[in-house]
Amino acid sequence: MCGIVGYVGNNKAQDFLISGLKRLEYRGYDSAGIVTLDKKGKATLLREKGKVSGLESKVSQNARDDQIGIGHTRWATHGEPSERNAHPHQAGDIYLVHNGIIENYKELKDQIKDHQFQSDTDSEVLAALINSFYQGGKHPLSNAVVQALKLVRGTYGIAVISVKNPGEIVVARSGSPLVIGVCQDETLIASDASALVGHTKKAIYLNDGEVATIAKDSISIKTLDSQPVSNKVETIQTDLSAIQKGGYDHFLLKEVMEQPQSLTETLRGRINVKDCTVHLGGPNLSDSELRKIKHIIIVGCGTAYYAGMTAAYYIEKFTPEITIEPVIASEYRYRNAYIPKDSVALIVSQSGETADTLACLREIKKQGIKTIGIVNSIGSTIAREVDGGTYIHVGPEISVASTKAYTSQSIAMIMFGLTIAQAKGVKSNTLAPYIKEIAALPQEIEGLLQSIPDTVKNIAKKYAKKYDHAIYLGRDTAYPTALEGALKLKEISYTDANAYPTGELKHGPIALVDDNAFEFFLLPENDLYDKSLSGLEEVLARGGHAIVVTDKSDFNHPVEQIITVQTGLKLLTPLLLNVVSQLFAYNFAVAKGLPVDQPRNLAKSVTVE
Ligand code: AGP
Ligand code: GLU
Repeated sequence: MCGIVGYVGNNKAQDFLISGLKRLEYRGYDSAGIVTLDKKGKATLLREKGKVSGLESKVSQNARDDQIGIGHTRWATHGEPSERNAHPHQAGDIYLVHNGIIENYKELKDQIKDHQFQSDTDSEVLAALINSFYQGGKHPLSNAVVQALKLVRGTYGIAVISVKNPGEIVVARSGSPLVIGVCQDETLIASDASALVGHTKKAIYLNDGEVATIAKDSISIKTLDSQPVSNKVETIQTDLSAIQKGGYDHFLLKEVMEQPQSLTETLRGRINVKDCTVHLGGPNLSDSELRKIKHIIIVGCGTAYYAGMTAAYYIEKFTPEITIEPVIASEYRYRNAYIPKDSVALIVSQSGETADTLACLREIKKQGIKTIGIVNSIGSTIAREVDGGTYIHVGPEISVASTKAYTSQSIAMIMFGLTIAQAKGVKSNTLAPYIKEIAALPQEIEGLLQSIPDTVKNIAKKYAKKYDHAIYLGRDTAYPTALEGALKLKEISYTDANAYPTGELKHGPIALVDDNAFEFFLLPENDLYDKSLSGLEEVLARGGHAIVVTDKSDFNHPVEQIITVQTGLKLLTPLLLNVVSQLFAYNFAVAKGLPVDQPRNLAKSVTVE
């Protein structure tokens, strides 16, 4: 689920392995390790609980010139985070790193007789199984890997090396990404192309069910059924600056601040303000197909799901005779939900690799429903498996907590809704206000980011010291914003935060109002403004500690803090208010001295169930 790297070439493998693992740190992990082999196959295995920097010090005390090796950052699923459970795992002649979960590891473990298990991981079982087929090098390593993988149930991205053949790495994937970096006289592997940036622009993305044997000057790929696969070399679009902090203290802050540009990229070529139209090529749906759509399911997890909810609130405002159901992928995949034939499914994922979302995509496709990806990561599994799609093009999102992706996912889906409405003949005067505000949003965010960060920082600093619980409130289009704001605060500041629709307060959550909690009210000046105000009054009457974020310039109620957002927007204001929530959560976490970009227990890309 976290990081894999590998190197074979003429240079010091340890150098690429450590720098590659550092690039993958953003994915969240709890231990790290590398193994390298010298020309005779002598192995140097170094592992460490905790950060890659710890591993790096170990490496500097054990520097080797070895020219082949594999490395891993582990996000524990089976067995506590510890040096013993860290990868690579050894079994006989082979070393293995594994991302994912071997679901039938217990069953397989019972069949393995001649291996002394050193760890509690499911991965070591796979290592032992491969080694049992390898038989000390009697068979090619790739054959042993294939035989073992045929017995495995679960998800994996793996890299395997053998002391008997210190010139090749065997890699395979099913449900967990693997990319091969093609260079002159050396070959690199990584679970994420960002580890390859700066080394090569040429990459081969392995597909599920493929196994590759890699040497410094050759790459040979076949399927688990031994069918040869031709190497499709693609270009890595990301450049170095996109994966560096660029002067900011944290990636999260950088990613919040770059939203005017990242959203501009999402809109590029897709919106025409002059004639107030939206054009999305990627979904590949003709006007007559768009007209037939009666239902939209939006599938995602976490922030992607909240972006889906945000879009749903908007799309139903301007699209007639349509139902929209945003669903949480981990739930939906096990529901026995009926999907009418005149539906389309939007599959939302920043990484494009989230296991639950991917499982829903496959299930929905089986039912013959058209699937459209709203994805950031180019070439990712979801992007490749959907029937059509719209990339959000926000560039790499490194911080574990998602920020710029949410804004662009929401807007990309609202634009998809607009294309349906256009095809269904909804009048331009209904759609034009939305289109104009979408076009204006990057500028609006820019203005906000120039005026508000200090105010938000000061308030967040104060509140981080005072309160240990937060209640986020919003109505209608501001309700998903409240959910997303609370998720951000939870994730990066480890502060208990829950979100409710403001109108629900009196049905239960108002009992939480006390001196340990503060209330974060998202209060756009819209049709429901007065009703939302009543919720605020109810909280104030009970001694609540409210922060109000609003675009109402003359807001005048006796609350503890007012954050006024100046904007020309009316409809999309909640997306601006969300930027305030992002900055608030960021500064709250910084004030607590927490590792904002890599919060504990979390991983950037959740490729396990
Ligand atoms: C967001 O801050 C979270 N880290 C998480 O909820 C994330 O949005 C979710 O896991 C979905 O990821 P995806 O967009 O890559 O599918
Ligand atoms: N399931 C394996 C383990 O717990 C791999 C986890 C990962 O993907 O990092 O070691």
